[in-house]
Amino acid sequence: MKHTGIAVAIDGPAGAGKSTIARAAAGQLGFIYVDTGALYRTIGLAAYRRGIEGTDSARIIAMLPEITVDLVYEDGVQHVLLDGADVSAEIRTPQISVYASQVSSVPEVRTYLLELQRTLAREHSVIMDGRDIGTVILPQAQVKIFLTASPKARAARRCAELREKGEAVTLEEVLAEIEARDEKDASRAVAPLRQAEDAVLVDTSDLTLEESIAAVLQVIETAMERA
Ligand code: DC
Repeated sequence: MKHTGIAVAIDGPAGAGKSTIARAAAGQLGFIYVDTGALYRTIGLAAYRRGIEGTDSARIIAMLPEITVDLVYEDGVQHVLLDGADVSAEIRTPQISVYASQVSSVPEVRTYLLELQRTLAREHSVIMDGRDIGTVILPQAQVKIFLTASPKARAARRCAELREKGEAVTLEEVLAEIEARDEKDASRAVAPLRQAEDAVLVDTSDLTLEESIAAVLQVIETAMERA
């Protein structure tokens, strides 16, 4: 079944399984999967490469007109480009996670990325995941899901993911990083992480990946039947 012009917003904290679940659900529905965290990570990477601290708002704002950030899709797979070069792998380190979180609290960074996200949703049926998709970017989305899991469950998953990539991390480190990022993402002044009033809550703490994908697909199908 292929639908056109549908927007599904999936928001939630780091490590809830958003990207894996959203990618799988988008594949089944024939929608484009948009991972908006990759955009903030790319701005973080650009700052890091220039030796700009993630907390140096003035220099980050001054950098924005000097860079280009694009999302392209090849066989349904998202690639993020910084100044035309594919940085999809490079943005996935714990260090760039910290930069991403820091730059994402700069209002000018959020404004800079807003139109890119809205354009994608105008041109395609999308499942877009992030922190403020249902609240700020696509408030008119037909389907809104707030996907979460306990910090412990999220840390265990992220830890396994990082170890698979060869990163030597401990569960304690990852849990501490997740709790710090949660706190920062939820307490920032601009677009804090919160559940949209009309979002359906899906808690994946006790669900397998397959069960989580099925739960999300069920919410989408139900909402689309009503629309
Ligand atoms: O989902 P992620 O871990 O790749 O996101 C990286 C950072 O970007 C995270 O700290 C929160 C921020 N972010 C955001 O502020 N808004 C979004 N729509 C997506 C991510």
